[in-house]
Amino acid sequence: MPQKIKGFSKLSKEAKIEWISDQFFEKSEEAIDLLKKYWHQDPKVQKLHDEFIENTLSNYYMPFGVAPNFMIDGKLFTIPMAIEESSVVAAAAKSASYWLERGGFKTTIVSTKKVGHVHFIYQGNADKLRAFFKQVVPKLEEDTEELTANMRARGGGIIDLKLIDKRSEMEDYWQIEALFETCDSMGANFINSCLEQFSQTFQRELKAQENFSKAEKAIQVVMCILSNYTPECIVRSEVSCKVEELNGDAGISPEEFAQKFKRAVRIAEIEPYRATTHNKGIMNGIDAVIIATGNDFRAVEAACHTYASKDGKYSSLTHCEVKDGIFRFWIEVPLALGTVGGLTRLHPMVKFSLDLLQQPNSEELMSIVASSGLAQNFAALRALTTTGIQKGHMKMHLLNILNQLEATQAEKDTIVEYFKDKVVSHSAAVNKFCELRGIEKPEAVKKTK
Ligand code: MEV
Repeated sequence: MPQKIKGFSKLSKEAKIEWISDQFFEKSEEAIDLLKKYWHQDPKVQKLHDEFIENTLSNYYMPFGVAPNFMIDGKLFTIPMAIEESSVVAAAAKSASYWLERGGFKTTIVSTKKVGHVHFIYQGNADKLRAFFKQVVPKLEEDTEELTANMRARGGGIIDLKLIDKRSEMEDYWQIEALFETCDSMGANFINSCLEQFSQTFQRELKAQENFSKAEKAIQVVMCILSNYTPECIVRSEVSCKVEELNGDAGISPEEFAQKFKRAVRIAEIEPYRATTHNKGIMNGIDAVIIATGNDFRAVEAACHTYASKDGKYSSLTHCEVKDGIFRFWIEVPLALGTVGGLTRLHPMVKFSLDLLQQPNSEELMSIVASSGLAQNFAALRALTTTGIQKGHMKMHLLNILNQLEATQAEKDTIVEYFKDKVVSHSAAVNKFCELRGIEKPEAVKKTK
């Protein structure tokens, strides 16, 4: 029975590993070896990774691949992707090549503002609070001048400050809502520092007001925090071509393909069950680039899903139109990204990714990420509405199955060649492997025959 432990974070890395392996692993030496095998060979690089988080024991590998041939706003990109799912990079690369021949991706940065709130409780006269807020705004700005100096020098800073009455949703609940421009940084620390300063200034200045009662002065600041929902930090990416330029796929004409594709998007627009999977596919393309470029994929996920529900029902992040012989397919997503700050200068692979993307600024990165999401969705819908998804997916998954079976390279080559013109299933792959080795099929596979 594992024991509880006090002061774990204070132990040395070696001691932590020893404790973990003793407590949870029968073969503790093997557990230790495994963790150490995944250490970086250069102790300096390993130390860097150790210091990203607390209680680091080792590294967790994820494949890092690239999808070439992305033409975005007339510029060619090879997009870095960190992801474990077999078919994602292949799908992105396929879509990129497809649209490269049809004019590529065209993007628009709709807006780049970030938002944060001081959430507080005020039990006094509303008009007095509104009047006080108007008067205190210059003080809020003045007291954050030091915090905002660098950002202002880069063309950003505080854009707007509003007092918001939320009492219809919760008793005595008010907000200071602040809009920010954070230029090429994601800006979370900058925003949160400004909000905490607003809170202090606001309370200090309120205390000095003579026309406020003692009770009115006793506001309760519940919290100061940025919002990861950024409906004013939006990018659009679009592909389009003449319907006749679309490939007839799997025996259907370009016109039929366009209509079927449009219907598939429409289903995701009206049906939350489908919208969730549809958007999950989009996030395959988005998250992989977000992770490769050292951005916060949890923040982006949260924002995208809230945005997908903005009209009161969870819906598709992409849309499609077939009109006057033109096929148009586009995505609109909130992406609060940074190309400076955070991990961007620290993680060597993040630095590599940004170099590969030719050092984009945050707006260019928004365009690249949105296009990757759109490409991913195009590939998924193209497969779903024609051949079905499993053909391509299982082909990519075949190597995972063979690796699980511990197939040799020669066996893998033979089996991959064998499935070139056949549909892969787990049982078919195991069957083929057993046949090649001349061994008994496992019971489960026998039963599926
Ligand atoms: C799988 O990771 C993603 C898909 O399910 C997306 C979709 O259905 O559109 C293929």
